[in-house]
Amino acid sequence: MLSDERNRLLCEVGPGTKMGELMRRYWQPIAAVAELDDTPTKPVRLLGEDLVLYKDLSGNHGLLERHCPHRSADLSYGVVESCGLRCSYHGWMFDETGACREQPYEDVAAPEIRFRDQIRIKAYRVEAKAGLLWAYLGPDPAPLIPSWEPFTWANGFVQIVFATVPCNWFQCQENSIDPVHFEWMHDNWGARLKGRNDYSPRHLKLAFDEFEYGLVYRRVREDSDESSELWTVGRVCLWPNALFTGNHFEWRVPIDDTSTLSVGWFFTRVPKEREPYLQDSIPYWYSPIVDEKTGRWITSHIMNQDFVGWVGQGAVTDRKREHLGRSDRGIIMMRQRFFQDLDTVASGGEPKAVVRDPVVNRCIELPIIGRRHFIDGLTRDQIARERPGIAPRREFPFLVGQPDSVRRAYDEAMGFVD
Ligand code: FES
Ligand SMILES: [Fe+2]
Repeated sequence: MLSDERNRLLCEVGPGTKMGELMRRYWQPIAAVAELDDTPTKPVRLLGEDLVLYKDLSGNHGLLERHCPHRSADLSYGVVESCGLRCSYHGWMFDETGACREQPYEDVAAPEIRFRDQIRIKAYRVEAKAGLLWAYLGPDPAPLIPSWEPFTWANGFVQIVFATVPCNWFQCQENSIDPVHFEWMHDNWGARLKGRNDYSPRHLKLAFDEFEYGLVYRRVREDSDESSELWTVGRVCLWPNALFTGNHFEWRVPIDDTSTLSVGWFFTRVPKEREPYLQDSIPYWYSPIVDEKTGRWITSHIMNQDFVGWVGQGAVTDRKREHLGRSDRGIIMMRQRFFQDLDTVASGGEPKAVVRDPVVNRCIELPIIGRRHFIDGLTRDQIARERPGIAPRREFPFLVGQPDSVRRAYDEAMGFVD
């Protein structure tokens, strides 16, 4: 149980809040690289700030305040130029540093005044990595975007999937350290949704540990023991706002206090017969979360089920109501770690898992169940014989709405033929 005051400390992310200041110490994924190739401007709301992301004609990415400093027009309707973004109302143009580079009428009517030199727009850093565009809203010097190990893997098909979830980010992130929900939400409820009545193996034992880049949860279920990698390696609650399961990441990016951008990055290793496989562009898509016919949440896919859990807790869940048990020890650890870091940042210190060393950042290893498979690959026969559980699936199981074009590219990569 948490008081309203402690709850607010965890949940509120706007400028000037303690959690907002902490989350501004980390790069956040906000779009796919390919997305800006398709449409050069994108409105973005991040940590309670309205922004516009763009790619100019020279290929520079910029992230600016959403509203023009002239008379507040919406710059997401602006025009990209060779060096920056031009407001469509009166043509003022800004570059990615926030400098005003042109004011068409002022430049003609009174060039000697150089009014544009007095104007700046708020600008944040944006960088590309792993097919994603990342934003940094914190103080200088900016840290590095972590090069998580899977970002360096070859011979994989990667896809990026977004969904907007109408609730606070912290309850989404608590799901990253919640092993028992797999048994119920995904296995048992998933079976009922498909009309089956079976139960999956029960969880018998859980452990939660902290490591440099987050927390790990480990489990023994009725169908496994302590020799299983589910216990010896575990899964990762990645700091500060992601889940990492070995072949995919799920970031819970705070849009504001009552909405979260779910960003999924999914890696599927091609069978050895399909090597070498080189993906020229990482596709992205947006998943719906509401069933248009019924107005209810979609429940057919794994992460859609998670969303039902998260939004069901309320826009900002009331943690005075909760009754935490032994399954929730990881959640308690996570909150305590965040409370510590809130104080660390408030007193000028560096919070957990900020990466600054370029040597360390060549490749940051994480606990990964079945690591060798992802790196070495397996033939179709080996997969069928030794690891049927990791066989590439025909259907994308995580989110609803995969476009046909992505499905076809995936089938081609895996060597599926109808
Ligand atoms: S409002 Fe943007 S140029 Fe006038
Ligand atoms: Fe889940």
